[in-house]
Amino acid sequence: ADPDSLQDFCIADLEAQPSINGFPCKPASNVTSDDFFFNGLSMEGSTGNIFGSNVTAANVLAFPGLNTLGLSMNRVDFAPGAVNPPHIHPRSTELVLVVKGQLLVGFVTTGFVYHSKVVSAGEIFVIPRGLVHFQKNVGKGKAMSFTAFNSQLPGVVVLPLTLFGSTPPIPDDVLTKGFQVDEEVVKAIKSKFGN
Ligand code: GLV
Ligand code: MN
Repeated sequence: ADPDSLQDFCIADLEAQPSINGFPCKPASNVTSDDFFFNGLSMEGSTGNIFGSNVTAANVLAFPGLNTLGLSMNRVDFAPGAVNPPHIHPRSTELVLVVKGQLLVGFVTTGFVYHSKVVSAGEIFVIPRGLVHFQKNVGKGKAMSFTAFNSQLPGVVVLPLTLFGSTPPIPDDVLTKGFQVDEEVVKAIKSKFGN
């Protein structure tokens, strides 16, 4: 959860130098109703990628009106069979609202317990802050969800990209030992993520 604000709002001035926590406010005299409006979640995202899913983020960077308000939202589109791969939000709990189709939503606790549910349209599932989680489209057609966050910028650590697609790469011997697999396996996974 983000800190509480001490003022009604503070529309982010994204051009300004970010301060220690968030963005400075644009001058109040320039604020209009449009600063509290964002239409970027109305369009279906393109799912033509290896995972078959697409996240459209309405965080403070896309929607500056969220600055200091402590919340944000994503739209996630899923082709049939798509996965939103295992990832973490370091700064936020996540509430998944399925709007279309059926998603298998799962997370793993710090004690290695896996919790999951098939979530259908109109149903919600909560993912506690900082835990590894994913969604998979297990319905027949496309699926779509909105995810709500108690942070204006939840951050995302996508595990496959982080571990196998970093610049520069994590050394192979760290990953072979860490995952107890042969070097060919590490190289094969790395090759999928640009390394
Ligand atoms: C789904 O997990 C999302 O982060 O939007
Ligand atoms: Mn998430």
